[in-house]
Amino acid sequence: MAYNILTPEEAASFIQNGQQIAFSGFTPAGGAKAVPSAIAAKAEKEHAEGRDFKISVITGASCGDLCEGVLARANAIKYRAPYQTNADIRSSANSNKMSYTDLHLSLTPQYMNYGFMGKFDWAIVEAADVNDKGEILLTTSVGISPTGLKLADKIIIELNAHQSKDIYGLHDIYETANPPFRREIPIYSAGDRIGSPVVKVDPKKIVGIVHTNMADTVAPFKPSDPITQKIGQNVADFLAAEMKAGIIPEQFLPIQSGVGNIANAVLGALGDNPDIPQFSMYSEVLQDSVIDLIKSGNIKCASATSLTCTAEKIDEVYKDIKFFKDKLVLRPQEISNSPEVARRIGVISMNTAIEVDLSGNVNSSHIMGKNIMNGIGGSGDFTRAAYISIYTCPSVAKGGMISAIVPNVSHCDHSEHSVNVIVTEYGVADLRCKSPYERANEIIEKCAHPDYRDLLRKFLKDAPMGHTPQTLARAYAFHEAFVNEGDMRKAVL
Ligand code: COA
Repeated sequence: MAYNILTPEEAASFIQNGQQIAFSGFTPAGGAKAVPSAIAAKAEKEHAEGRDFKISVITGASCGDLCEGVLARANAIKYRAPYQTNADIRSSANSNKMSYTDLHLSLTPQYMNYGFMGKFDWAIVEAADVNDKGEILLTTSVGISPTGLKLADKIIIELNAHQSKDIYGLHDIYETANPPFRREIPIYSAGDRIGSPVVKVDPKKIVGIVHTNMADTVAPFKPSDPITQKIGQNVADFLAAEMKAGIIPEQFLPIQSGVGNIANAVLGALGDNPDIPQFSMYSEVLQDSVIDLIKSGNIKCASATSLTCTAEKIDEVYKDIKFFKDKLVLRPQEISNSPEVARRIGVISMNTAIEVDLSGNVNSSHIMGKNIMNGIGGSGDFTRAAYISIYTCPSVAKGGMISAIVPNVSHCDHSEHSVNVIVTEYGVADLRCKSPYERANEIIEKCAHPDYRDLLRKFLKDAPMGHTPQTLARAYAFHEAFVNEGDMRKAVL
């Protein structure tokens, strides 16, 4: 079957006001790169001519400026889920110009399948190849694409010549059935393959193909600073000690590592620690450091839903694709982030917190209780199911005016019941199986910045008798001090 070849503008002309679109992309990796800009231009034209034009944008996670950024700036988004990292989306969401819903990433395809998100009019998906039988070879991410391609009425493919067809064999496409027909996901170790290398669709649903030739736009990391390095070293030392104590078995356990500079530094520190044996990753996103650690032999194999690597690192993978084929697996996000699998294979989860409170509750997503930063992402998928769940963060933010350790988090994403270990540059608070008062002391003495320790000790000492140290009238004294005085150190307790 010969598919229609479309320009991005012709593809955009099909999209109507109010429609819901599943776009490929998990981070900028594998995202649609040409059609979203054409839809944004169409929206601007419609608006200029006095007509409404807004769409619902569902992706795997964030999807890069070429998709969510251009659409947000054109005021073309009515509804956005499940995650973003874009300044324009953030400001629209925080000023309520856009409806933004922060969802667990493993649950997003499930919610799509259950019908919670309504009908999908289109799937717009980047591919490295597509054949007459409707077999689609995805590129550097899988995300929600298999679900979007299955549910959408119609499909537009961005066939990206920049993405090598040699990627064939890296993907493992497996979809779960809805209850009551769902079975176990038969993955018993991180590298297991259980699905197909391509997504299969009815070719009649493919309305057309847009040819592109564009690299993923993944930004390089900031060079790691002494604080990030110390956090990384603290995590690596903690895990090495757990192995020596026999809590982590000698074969080690699969690692899940979050996004950003701290996550990158933690992985680097694991690679540098001679006491940590070769390990595997069962994670969501694979960043540059993972490719280096596979090459150095520190990582045996890595499973994720996205290869979020700089263009140079992706080229390294393509150049040596034979070496990487049995060491990298890209899965749909409901499989890469499956709590069922994570708990079975004993994933050690490592994510970054915005703030942590004295009980061990973690806020990953909101600033001062009201403004979204990015979202919960996959952190909750792994935290609740982990063998050991770890949260890292610098002890202070904004030059010391904000303490990451607060009496109460201003927004709770991960509760004290799921969070095992907190790590800052000052040390490691091991909260496992400890009472609320023991946890509070551990967090203050091991993790808080010295500027805040006396204030936190006072909060603890003055709390009226109870199972958990809490003084309701002072619960948000730190946050109020920052909002009113610009500095949490001025908190009145
Ligand atoms: N209060 C206010 N602002 C804070 C803060 C706090 N307690 N802690 C951090 N910040 C600010 C920083 O100052 C920085 O601001 P800037 O962009 O203006 O410089 C910003 O938050 C990001 O902090 P940074 O230290 O650079 O951390 P990061 O890039 O590692 O991101 C998260 C940290 C928490 C925002 C990020 O990891 C995230 O979105 N996590 C949730 C999703 C997730 O865990 N995904 C992985 C699952 S697989």
